[in-house]
Amino acid sequence: MAKVVALANQKGGVGKTTTAINLAASVALLGKKVLLIDADPQANATSGLGFDINLKGIYECIVGEATAEEVIQHSEDIKKLWLLPSSINLVAADTELPTMENAHRIIKGIVDSVRDKFDYIFIDCSPSLGFTTVNILTAADSVLVPVQCEYLALEGLSKLLNTIKMVKGRLHPELEIEGFVLTMYMRNRLNNQVVSEVREHFGELAYETIIQRNIRLGEAPSHGKPVMLYDAAATGSVNYLNLAREFIKRNRNK
Ligand SMILES: Nc1ncnc2c1ncn2[C@@H]1O[C@H](COP(=O)(O)OP(=O)(O)O)[C@@H](O)[C@H]1O
Ligand SMILES: [Mg+2]
Repeated sequence: MAKVVALANQKGGVGKTTTAINLAASVALLGKKVLLIDADPQANATSGLGFDINLKGIYECIVGEATAEEVIQHSEDIKKLWLLPSSINLVAADTELPTMENAHRIIKGIVDSVRDKFDYIFIDCSPSLGFTTVNILTAADSVLVPVQCEYLALEGLSKLLNTIKMVKGRLHPELEIEGFVLTMYMRNRLNNQVVSEVREHFGELAYETIIQRNIRLGEAPSHGKPVMLYDAAATGSVNYLNLAREFIKRNRNK
């Protein structure tokens, strides 16, 4: 049975999708069967893995027009990686989901229907804490939080932590925090300060691996590839493979 990990942070541009694509790809390259679910109407994870953003995907599953098994795509490049795509249609989910029967557990139903086919399922969330994101947190075992190394990085996290607390309290008591991953690091005083603040604040939950700012990470999506298939020697490739090793090591006993 797969462990289900949501990548969430209501702030946009912090590295959720970059981490979702490259962590999912790296974990798959290390031998695990991985499904990446794109749950952002921007569909950046879908296009970043080289897939058409007009495919049927998560939205069609939500409204019952398709099953997850029907819409899941196999990566052409990575044997153990699959994608459940997204499209702009998903913007309607925040208003449609609440009107459905068993509204809070719709995405959980979709995820659970394919859970026995993978070792890990990663879900790339949109930059919001709306109904869809709460649905995803209810479907997940844990939340992995990308944190951009920048001024006031910790500031916005309290909203996310409150939402996680709310979901734990009312919908899903077993939800855990997988960890915090520092992204877009550059060697300077401000970034070093953010790193030590996050480590001080979150202790063990802060991943040792830090993702550096690397231009190849920005380029790879336009080639429809995870960075390690675009430029294997790039710092971004090394960083994300290390992150995947750390992730698997932390989950060894699960
Ligand atoms: N470590 C990095 N180095 C350089 N560019 C990055 C890095 N991480 C993300 N980016 C770029 O920053 C932008 C925002 O990242 P993205 O992963 O899309 O964030 P989010 O999904 O949180 O909105 C994208 O253009 C992406 O290519
Ligand atoms: Mg994104």
